[in-house]
Amino acid sequence: MGLKHSNRKFHSRPKLCLLKCSTIIAAFLFLASFIYFFSPLADFAKSWSREVHFRGDLREAKFPWNKLCFGQANEKLKLAVFSKSWPIGAAPGGMERHASTLYTALAAKGHEIHIFTAPSDRRAHEDIHRGNLHVYFASNDHGSVNCSLAFDIFNRENKMNEFDYVHTESVSLPYWRARVVPKVAVTWHGVWYEIMHSKLFQELLSNPKEQLPGPMTELQEAMPRLLNEIRFFSIYKQHICISDSAGEVLVNIYQLPQRNVHVILNGVDETKFTPDPMAGAVFRERYGVPFNVSLVLGIAGRLVRDKGHPLLHEAFAKTSKRHPGVFLLVAGSGPWGRRYAELGKNVKVLGALEPSELSHFYNSLDVFVNPTLRPQGLDLTLMEAMHCGKPVLTPNYPSITRTVVLNEEFGYTFSPNVESLVEALESAIKDGSRELQRKGKLCQRYAVSMFTASKMASAYERFFLCMKNTRYCQYPLTSDC
Ligand SMILES: *[C@@H]1O[C@H](CO)[C@@H](O)[C@H](O)[C@H]1NC(C)=O
Ligand SMILES: *[C@@H]1O[C@H](CO)[C@@H](O)[C@H](O)[C@H]1NC(C)=O
Repeated sequence: MGLKHSNRKFHSRPKLCLLKCSTIIAAFLFLASFIYFFSPLADFAKSWSREVHFRGDLREAKFPWNKLCFGQANEKLKLAVFSKSWPIGAAPGGMERHASTLYTALAAKGHEIHIFTAPSDRRAHEDIHRGNLHVYFASNDHGSVNCSLAFDIFNRENKMNEFDYVHTESVSLPYWRARVVPKVAVTWHGVWYEIMHSKLFQELLSNPKEQLPGPMTELQEAMPRLLNEIRFFSIYKQHICISDSAGEVLVNIYQLPQRNVHVILNGVDETKFTPDPMAGAVFRERYGVPFNVSLVLGIAGRLVRDKGHPLLHEAFAKTSKRHPGVFLLVAGSGPWGRRYAELGKNVKVLGALEPSELSHFYNSLDVFVNPTLRPQGLDLTLMEAMHCGKPVLTPNYPSITRTVVLNEEFGYTFSPNVESLVEALESAIKDGSRELQRKGKLCQRYAVSMFTASKMASAYERFFLCMKNTRYCQYPLTSDC
């Protein structure tokens, strides 16, 4: 990864200025700009020190709002939310979990939240009115959101008592409707520029020597879709990205004004995911992980092709031949489950876990592996594992290396090919469980400082307050911590 610099160096740099020697300063500036352009970590370290001391208008912030600490606000908001689905029942997907975590938290802070959506199980359900949280189900026959119906209900509620601001999760509120909603912010959970990036890798991986001459339909479709996105994105007024790199793409490629692009990272419920070595040991025993294994790797999620399982399957088969003490725990279900099981006694396929077991699963691991080939968005499982004090091993997409695995102290990254993944696995094995524990502690500290549901909720709260009343765009306010 080439990310060897420590950010501590950068904190001490300003002392150089005491020398009051312009030549040194000039040389330093030259060097700093050189490092700035050529080392991603230097870039990170530079911005980190700037962010710690950030003062001014939040709309100018070029870093995740999660880094700041916002105090309690007295002002109450009335917000409308358009979202593709709302979680019903057990084990909903990441997107739904995110939406319910965020809006439940905002409602608990006293804001009036009205959500226009469809139930995740695609069945008929009564609307939900729980305290400040109002969920309206507006489905069509297939169970997805009927946009015109949702918009009708929104208009009715807006006429009675106008919303302060409207929030849409991706294009849940389509752009042709967003045109008539001036006070709208959209959160992008993945943009076509990133999807194109991943499609490129998928094509290279599934067809390395171009043995299958074909139309590469998906890749060919990607470019027109990207162009289309760039054309319609500017219809939405305010944009929230969930990774640093997506924010840069929106400014540099989609050409949106920097002032209208904001980064707020997703968070997970930090009370549900915590380090608990005892629970981890019990989990290992319960699922029959042998006592004499040297290292336990784990993966979680749907076991399908585009989550990178062909890649990990091959890489683990190679690695476990050389290192018979390495064990793989597979949580989740899908077509690749059976193939993992065929790898022999060093693999245990657990099937889909109950949400309550997930934290114990993470705690039973030495390192969490996420081989996903879909870089769009940020996978919540990485954050959950880090909250449990586990280092992660994952592809080197910009959304990950800029925001999650900042350098090798947090884990291991690889290019999405088998050789590179084997190399990353070898590094983790070479480091061994003690070193992995040390890295895991750092991951946990970082996760708590960045990826918590409460930080995410207070960043969104401040964002909408700032949209309603520019007084709240100033940071820090006296009420801020
Ligand atoms: C969506 O809602 C509109 C307005 O209520 C209705 O006229 C239309 O038939 C609905 N469409 C579908 C596919 O359910
Ligand atoms: C662990 O113990 C089992 C049973 O005694 C043995 O078959 C296996 O080879 C051992 N594995 C390692 C990695 O030492």
